[in-house]
Amino acid sequence: MAFVDLNDSVISQVRSSADIVDFVNQVTPLKLAGKSYKGLCPFHREKTPSFHVDRDKGLFYCFGCGTGGDVFKFLTLTERFTFPEAVEHVASRYGIELPKKKRTQRENDKDDLLELMDDASEAFHQALEWTPNDADDYLKNRRVPADIIKKYGFGYAPGSWDYILRRLSQKHGEKRLEAVGLVMARKEKTGYYDRFRNRLMIPIHSDTGALVGFGGRSLDGSDPKYLNSPESDLFNKSRLLYNLHRSKDAMRRNDRAILVEGYFDAIAIDHAGIPGVVASMGTSLAAGQASLLRRFARRVVIAYDGDDAGRNATLRAAQVLLSAGLHVEALDLQGEKDPDSLIQKHGTDKFLEVLSNASDIFEFGLREWASDAGQLSGREKSERVERFVPLLSAVTDPVVRNEGAQRIADAFRLEFETVWSRVRGKASTAPNQERQLSAPQSTAEKFVLTAAIQGRLTPKQAGWLREEFFEDPSCKTLFSIIKNDLVNDEPIDFHALETQLRGEAEVALLAELSLRDDIDDRTLERLDENLLPMERSHLDRRKQQIQREIIDAEKNGDLARLDQLVTEKTELSRMLSSLK
Ligand code: UTP
Ligand code: MN
Repeated sequence: MAFVDLNDSVISQVRSSADIVDFVNQVTPLKLAGKSYKGLCPFHREKTPSFHVDRDKGLFYCFGCGTGGDVFKFLTLTERFTFPEAVEHVASRYGIELPKKKRTQRENDKDDLLELMDDASEAFHQALEWTPNDADDYLKNRRVPADIIKKYGFGYAPGSWDYILRRLSQKHGEKRLEAVGLVMARKEKTGYYDRFRNRLMIPIHSDTGALVGFGGRSLDGSDPKYLNSPESDLFNKSRLLYNLHRSKDAMRRNDRAILVEGYFDAIAIDHAGIPGVVASMGTSLAAGQASLLRRFARRVVIAYDGDDAGRNATLRAAQVLLSAGLHVEALDLQGEKDPDSLIQKHGTDKFLEVLSNASDIFEFGLREWASDAGQLSGREKSERVERFVPLLSAVTDPVVRNEGAQRIADAFRLEFETVWSRVRGKASTAPNQERQLSAPQSTAEKFVLTAAIQGRLTPKQAGWLREEFFEDPSCKTLFSIIKNDLVNDEPIDFHALETQLRGEAEVALLAELSLRDDIDDRTLERLDENLLPMERSHLDRRKQQIQREIIDAEKNGDLARLDQLVTEKTELSRMLSSLK
């Protein structure tokens, strides 16, 4: 994927070859109704169709929930593809070859390191297979079958100081081996020695399946229990999740991930055929790992260890996941140490039962911190409620946050406000919550743009409209692109237009406006009533801006500028009063 070069012209070529109706039809059946197709919206529950698709323009829009865009947007929503993946998917469906990206030196270097890792993995694997060793015994004791060893690519790092060094330094050079953390420089003498010695080696892959590091389990009780590859150009632990490359498709399909701590937990669940499991490789989940997860699913079930440490880690990880906008649940392992031992002892079905009983993270937290709420003193209650504050503050959806606070208040028999006052002001907001416009303004702007797109503006109106009259950023952008066609009285080229539109919000707006019904003549008569207020509020905004600049100019004693500003302000006031 990283090797294709997606430029605007390629994207628009792929877009215009695609039949959007085909793609939508696979998800929701469409019927031709007038100039567009109609069906039940796949993005919200409805009984009468308000989901429209325009084959020629290649756009969809739901008048019920406001979701809209092009074929790529549709695929990112339904298949949970990233944008480049959606482009590739459509391209391959129509046999369009995408241009390959020219490779940079950095990418070539990285390729060399990846090849080195593959060779190392092969060397570890041979060491496991060819001679009897400690890892054999360990795996036998742990009752790990041969098919797991093969499928998850286990290997063995012999107890020698230079096994990898000797096997790989000829071909790859010591410096590269050091760069990926397979060998370390000797402190006193010159030369290098192997980092991993007498360990069971578990390969770790990136989300695209490239082998980027290893987790080496100690076999003789030496510390640490797991020695991982150090941070390098390839291995960035806070952006990796163990087993993600095997799980990501299932995570997308089910819109759910199972998050565990350990390699063996992930392997046990994955091997049992339960899809979508990844391991955080330790208990402290990084924000980067949470946003990685968010790319593939919206719901996460945490299945950390069942002890006190594991339950505390669950609540800490939940905060990180909630902040990434994920819906979080957690498992109760019913006294078992971890998912691996639960499956070993009680079987897959038992794990599935526990999984289906996963509870919402607030319920989990309440069981943990509020089961004895009835017997607590005021001060103890206060201290317990305080523990929920980070969790509540991490929730990005205000409705969910509010509901969580209510449940906590109920559990401790407190007033809602008592809990809420601690959360207020600390709450995070979703990263993409844009400033909302006052509705009437935006409605007027949309009406005017719709008329423009449908070719219903008179030349006089078209000539008079200016970009600055639009306050809504998407409306402004859309208008600035079609303005030339309007003034020259030419039809709007939708495919060219989509190519020029950068943001999702703009494409959704274009879909909404171009899928609206034709404006009837009576409504059209009211167009001027919408144009005038747009100009008036533009002048108002300008006047306020000038007022701020006047204050600045006064502060700085810039008299020439002040003079100029005051003249402009007077002129604006005159124009405004002529509009009233
Ligand atoms: P655990 O100690 O729970 O390991 O650590 P585990 O997977 O149950 O180990 P086994 O079953 O005894 O072999 C959970 C995870 O934390 C990371 C590893 O990814 C481990 O799987 N970890 C743990 C480390 O990276 N280093 C350590 O020293 C310990
Ligand atoms: Mn464990």
